[in-house]
Amino acid sequence: MNITIKNEDEIELMKVAGKVLGEALYHLKEMIKPGINCLELDSFFKTFIEKNNCQSNFKNYYGYPAYTCISVNEQLIHAIPRNYLLRSGDIVSIDAGCIYKGYNADAAFTKICGDSKDPEHTKLVEVTEKSLYLAIEKISDGVRIGTLSSTIQKYVQGEGFYLPVEFSGHGIGKQMHEDPLVPNTGSDNTGMRLKEGMTICIEPMVQIGTAKIKILDDKWTVVSKDSSMAAHFEHTILVTKKGYEILTTIKPMED
Ligand code: MF3
Ligand code: CO
Repeated sequence: MNITIKNEDEIELMKVAGKVLGEALYHLKEMIKPGINCLELDSFFKTFIEKNNCQSNFKNYYGYPAYTCISVNEQLIHAIPRNYLLRSGDIVSIDAGCIYKGYNADAAFTKICGDSKDPEHTKLVEVTEKSLYLAIEKISDGVRIGTLSSTIQKYVQGEGFYLPVEFSGHGIGKQMHEDPLVPNTGSDNTGMRLKEGMTICIEPMVQIGTAKIKILDDKWTVVSKDSSMAAHFEHTILVTKKGYEILTTIKPMED
């Protein structure tokens, strides 16, 4: 295990990466409307982060060919943006990241394009997002990772949805993926204790019909095994003495 505690200078750089990412995701969220091409969303993101002095951490990551992951409907995560025009009712998850002066930020959101086709889809997105915030609210110096995992698990399963166990949240810093692992299932008050100065990503990934997943022939796209709908939310978060600070809040640039 190699868990890094960030000093004040490093935290400042992570805050810049997180702010640029949160602004980029704000624009992408606004752009999700029937008729927009997923390739246009990916190229907007590349241009936006580069204009703001950041680089991509997704592009070329183990050979990943794009700047964002845009996972639609039964696609859970890691879908490569394709030449596809979004339609009303599509459940669109965008996961993206950037690096500022060597420090990473990573975040994701899900939005239904246009009008929801089914109240169950709306509930899926709301439950997935809320599970992320319920876990985040538990964070403070000394809290154990299992408490975050069990918060997500109890809430999501209590709402009747499923959490694949193959993918987890993670530490983040100079690397996009660092220790510790932050699973979406687990037991209260178990596992490692978080400490002030750690930076982690929490990322609940939720499916309507099963916890089982499949990986498509492109070797990236993860879909639900039963083709039921899926959602994903993620933030990069700093652990502080008293609690936490979300570094990737999705909001427009302030002036
Ligand atoms: N953002 C993903 C995560 O949360 C990683 C994407 S890796 C890529 O861990 F290769 F798809 F870019
Ligand atoms: Co992540």
